[in-house]
Amino acid sequence: MKIGLCSDHAGVEYKAKLMSYLLGKGYEVVNFGTDSTESCDYCDYAHPLARAVESGECNLGIAICGTGNGMAMTLNKHQGIRAGLAWNTAVGTLVKEHNNANVLVLPARFISYRMAVSIVRAWLTTDFAGGRHQRRIDKIPVK
Ligand code: RB5
Repeated sequence: MKIGLCSDHAGVEYKAKLMSYLLGKGYEVVNFGTDSTESCDYCDYAHPLARAVESGECNLGIAICGTGNGMAMTLNKHQGIRAGLAWNTAVGTLVKEHNNANVLVLPARFISYRMAVSIVRAWLTTDFAGGRHQRRIDKIPVK
């Protein structure tokens, strides 16, 4: 399982810690930046991560910015991406179970690092429920 991670300056600290956490759990990780706390544009990191998940280079992705919204908006412009914002463990579970998010988006300025880990764990260990949720997902793309 290969997980791509990206962030802007607001999410860089959580990204670094989550990369270590995931490596410790035996996941392969790919870092799409940023690696600096200098102000930057989330789009410059979201697009490369989205392309890597769409192409299959990465199985899943995690994207982090201040609110999560800039990352989610950018990622969801890609047809093959379902990026879901999660701010607590229950939403982390449901964003996989109901929405089959292939990129998890975290709002670093509004959750503790401990919560971020709990959300990531929930999202990674939950299975997509399929059924009526698959039907809904099939209706998302703009044809
Ligand atoms: C950066 O200040 C902030 O705007 C960004 O991290 C994010 O919240 C945008 O959606």
